[in-house]
Amino acid sequence: MENQSENLTEKVVNLAKRRGFVFAGSEIYGGFAGTYDWGPLGVALKNNVIKAWTDAMQDHTNIVFLDSSIFTSGKVWEASGHVSGFSDPLVICNSCHEKVRADHLLEGIGVTADEKLSEEAINALFDENRSKLKCPKCGANDFGQVRAKNLLATSNLGMFESDDAQVYLRGETAQGIFINYKNVLDSGFNSIPFGIAQIGKAFRNEISPRQFLFRKREFEQMEMQYFLKESEAMEAYESWKNERLNYYYKLGIKKDKLRLKPHENLVFYAKAACDIEYEYPFGWGELEGIHYRGNYDLSQHQKFSGVDMSYYDEETKERYIPHVIETSVGVDRTVFMALCDAYTEDTLGESTRIVLKLPPKLAPVICAVSPLLKNKPDLVVKAQEVFRVLKKEFGRVMWDDNGNIGKRYRRQDEIGTPWCIVIDFDTLGEEHPELKDTVTVRNRDTGNQERVAITDLISKIKENL
Ligand code: GAP
Repeated sequence: MENQSENLTEKVVNLAKRRGFVFAGSEIYGGFAGTYDWGPLGVALKNNVIKAWTDAMQDHTNIVFLDSSIFTSGKVWEASGHVSGFSDPLVICNSCHEKVRADHLLEGIGVTADEKLSEEAINALFDENRSKLKCPKCGANDFGQVRAKNLLATSNLGMFESDDAQVYLRGETAQGIFINYKNVLDSGFNSIPFGIAQIGKAFRNEISPRQFLFRKREFEQMEMQYFLKESEAMEAYESWKNERLNYYYKLGIKKDKLRLKPHENLVFYAKAACDIEYEYPFGWGELEGIHYRGNYDLSQHQKFSGVDMSYYDEETKERYIPHVIETSVGVDRTVFMALCDAYTEDTLGESTRIVLKLPPKLAPVICAVSPLLKNKPDLVVKAQEVFRVLKKEFGRVMWDDNGNIGKRYRRQDEIGTPWCIVIDFDTLGEEHPELKDTVTVRNRDTGNQERVAITDLISKIKENL
């Protein structure tokens, strides 16, 4: 019964809601497409995802962090090309007026349509296959022309006069990095190669947000731009590709569910690009992009702002606009991947259960501490003592005295807690004095239980983290 992919998205969505990971956005008002709210355990899981990425970036002594604004001058997005070219191909059903992505419709009948195709090219491809395409909502075979729909979300912030420039919510965090590259360089990090990393919200007017956390209108990105000279860029690109794939292996994601996919059609300025894909329940999908962007972005910002973006290399006495390798991954897609990868239905003893086999590093709760019976003060006092010690050490520790032990195990299995620690009468040394000050540690994945001395608990857990 392990990890059935059939209906896996539905199962993950249900579990995420039931256990407080993720709720539909504005749910009590009937929902708001493309948005989701993080519940208590979702926040914990998301924070662990962010911490893992931050730690990996901080392993590099030449990568620094930035936190730039969500609102920026509209000129940023003109320079970056987002105002003119950041779009998806939209087609509208003439029968029910459903808005659909033309490339997704074509993919549905096995025709690959690169999202970067020009409006003319995708219309030609669409017309070739028009007779075979059906509206996913009403089934009609009656579509209009394909139009490029810009994805930038607009805002009226500061727009008090009608001739104020258009304001956008950022469509990616990367541009905040490019426009601050000079500031960071001048503030002491003045030697290339170096990287700037940033985590933050991004907004896109997605035509059809779908697949739970995979395609949202408000989401979070973890991006890193690595600035370097052209002659070193290709080697660095290869090295980042390997590093980022290995990062997911080390995180404990199933290797056979991950792959590197080179881009078939590069945007005109890109020198090389690939995606790390994960096999989500609906098929392979982009988890992270690794792009060698040339020096396009800095050159564009130099052109539009008039600020010199060049770098003077003291060693080689050369002046140049640095090239950039980018790694860009969504927090939401990582969380969705972790949930799908971990979701398991299995049989333990007599009963079937749902268990999230999350890597301990990502699990919202590292261990739960319980007194065997909650109405025995001696057990409760001892359990609280153990709880406080572990909480101080690990932070992500839960007190759980709700229901009987079997129910507590099921609940902790469902939220992915790797270890449950139970304080029983043996801990008090009442029946077997030799077991005094030991506790039961129950393993989530195997259901096995072992006796561990309270004094060894911290090292035992750390060993497995
Ligand atoms: N700066 C490059 C950039 O933004 P992208 O491929 O458009 O490239 C990078 O996005 C990553 O952001 C994706 O690999 C994905 O993980 C995440 N992402 C993009 N659009 C998303 C959406 N609508 N919902 C959730 N995550 C998204």
